[in-house]
Amino acid sequence: MSVSDKTAVVTGAGSKRGIGRATAHALAAAGWNIAVLDLDEAGAKDVATEIAEQHGVQAVGVGCDVTDAASVEAALAVVEGAVPPVGAVVNNAGITSPTPFLEVTSEEWERIFAVNVRGSYNVTRRLAPGLVERGFGRIVFLSSVSAERGGGVFGGVAYSAAKAGQLGFARALARELGPNGVTVNSVAPGLIDTDITAGKLVGEKEKQVLAGVPVGRKGRAADVADLITYLCREESGYITGATYDVNGGAHIH
Ligand SMILES: NC(=O)c1ccc[n+]([C@@H]2O[C@H](COP(=O)([O-])OP(=O)(O)OC[C@H]3O[C@@H](n4cnc5c(N)ncnc54)[C@H](O)[C@@H]3O)[C@@H](O)[C@H]2O)c1
Repeated sequence: MSVSDKTAVVTGAGSKRGIGRATAHALAAAGWNIAVLDLDEAGAKDVATEIAEQHGVQAVGVGCDVTDAASVEAALAVVEGAVPPVGAVVNNAGITSPTPFLEVTSEEWERIFAVNVRGSYNVTRRLAPGLVERGFGRIVFLSSVSAERGGGVFGGVAYSAAKAGQLGFARALARELGPNGVTVNSVAPGLIDTDITAGKLVGEKEKQVLAGVPVGRKGRAADVADLITYLCREESGYITGATYDVNGGAHIH
């Protein structure tokens, strides 16, 4: 087996400075063909073009709302017609919100869960049968340090709960799919320098968070991408059901 015969699907890789785009690049550099699914269709196509040019692999970008099963079905049909069979799935699309629990609405709560948890379900449920059938797969979930320590970075209760939901999802799925050569792991980043906070974590607030980071800086998208790429290697087949911290020491447990 070689990853050059396989495709890694990365959701939410459209954003310019995001973890998804860095991950798509890192996986392509390791030889994977790439499929990007993002709400931002132009961003998805842009990163696919960039990847094909820079890494000489096959790449396709498709507009997709991961919360909507029909949209996921349509996007993956395009992917399957365009690139080699899927061997890895990175459930990266996600949204956050700092709204305190006493102010959160049901709509906002549902939305945070829809993208982070149902989105991961829609994509994974659709792709897992093929991984099982082919006897090889790598699935990675983007959880968060917020799930482990109960928020305290940027996201509120809804975000922490949804990211903890992904941890349980990954662990139980690892148990079910292990016999079929499919590993399932989570990465739990701390504060990574991307646009997910929409410029709302700045000044004193940012200083306070950074004071709790032993490494003394924000994480880079590439720091997370490198870890995900490691977990997707063929040689990483004995690592499953695990949660990997990438937080500069902000949470040591
Ligand atoms: N940046 C951090 O500090 C940090 C920390 C811990 C965990 N994470 C997690 O890492 C992942 C990536 O975060 P990021 O910081 O790169 O964010 P980002 O905002 O840069 O990227 C998120 C991407 O997801 C896409 N997206 C949002 N809703 C979608 C939907 N319904 N369907 C399809 N695509 C959708 C967006 O268009 C965007 O391209 C998220 O799951 C996030 O929760 C980030």
